[in-house]
Amino acid sequence: MSTGNVAKLRELRGVIEAAIGPVHAPLGIILGSGLGAVADAVTDARRLPYGRLPHLSPSTVIGHKGEFVAGRWRGRDVVVLSGRVHRYEGHSHDAVALPVRLLGALGVDTVIVTNAAGALHTRLQPGDLMLLADHINLSGGNPLTGKNDAPLGPRFPDMTAAYDVELRALAKSVAARLGQDLHEGVYVGLQGPSYETPAEVRMLAQLGGDAVGMSTVSEVIAARHMGLRVLGLSCITNLGAGLGSGTLDHSHVGAVAQAASERMIALLAGVVDGLPSLACRPRPF
Ligand code: HPA
Repeated sequence: MSTGNVAKLRELRGVIEAAIGPVHAPLGIILGSGLGAVADAVTDARRLPYGRLPHLSPSTVIGHKGEFVAGRWRGRDVVVLSGRVHRYEGHSHDAVALPVRLLGALGVDTVIVTNAAGALHTRLQPGDLMLLADHINLSGGNPLTGKNDAPLGPRFPDMTAAYDVELRALAKSVAARLGQDLHEGVYVGLQGPSYETPAEVRMLAQLGGDAVGMSTVSEVIAARHMGLRVLGLSCITNLGAGLGSGTLDHSHVGAVAQAASERMIALLAGVVDGLPSLACRPRPF
């Protein structure tokens, strides 16, 4: 149920300002499993564990640090959210979306969302990077359910180009320059936490999905509601259930994401370097 987000965001901004001073950043980055190195690369970093921020829940998942980091990366003011919370941890869609809403409340114009995902067909292989062209929300809910928070955005936000066309073109050109194979596809967001059955993997592929994961869709819906531009990148950590020979486990997912993190970080760095100059967009609340 979407209620009281504006009050929560005002409170969060106040707590952050009191703890580390004002934060104005036009760029936000949400890091998925195994990508904590980006947060470590931030300079002039002012860090706050989620536990110190009201309404933000510490992540309970191994590989997700749960830290708010404001600072500079590649010469730009940035807020990096290292780790996220998930629906399967028992959080509402609203709670899952609050960190990205916080980015919007801090003036972020463009948000880069990363995640680990399973391949829904064998044209994608573990270690591959995939640019999100679109998503299918099968997470069982929507962070905009309930009374609309009008100061955040409209009742019925358009999702036609949820993943910004220009940012996707930039990511593709950076990947080409780096000699990286960057796939593009549709991410299916499920609630988890069980991995899919082989029958579900076959169904999701038939529905038009290329990769499947347990995050991102609520964040992107909330980001688009606030008018943030979104770039989404998945690290393909495994073949979906039934496509490979083995079984799935989270530590393997984390290890593959970790192994691909250098390439993911190089891609992110190139994208950030190639962004036009971005203005911080103060929100009217
Ligand atoms: N399914 C769902 N979520 C995932 C997977 C998967 O195969 N791999 C990484 N996150």
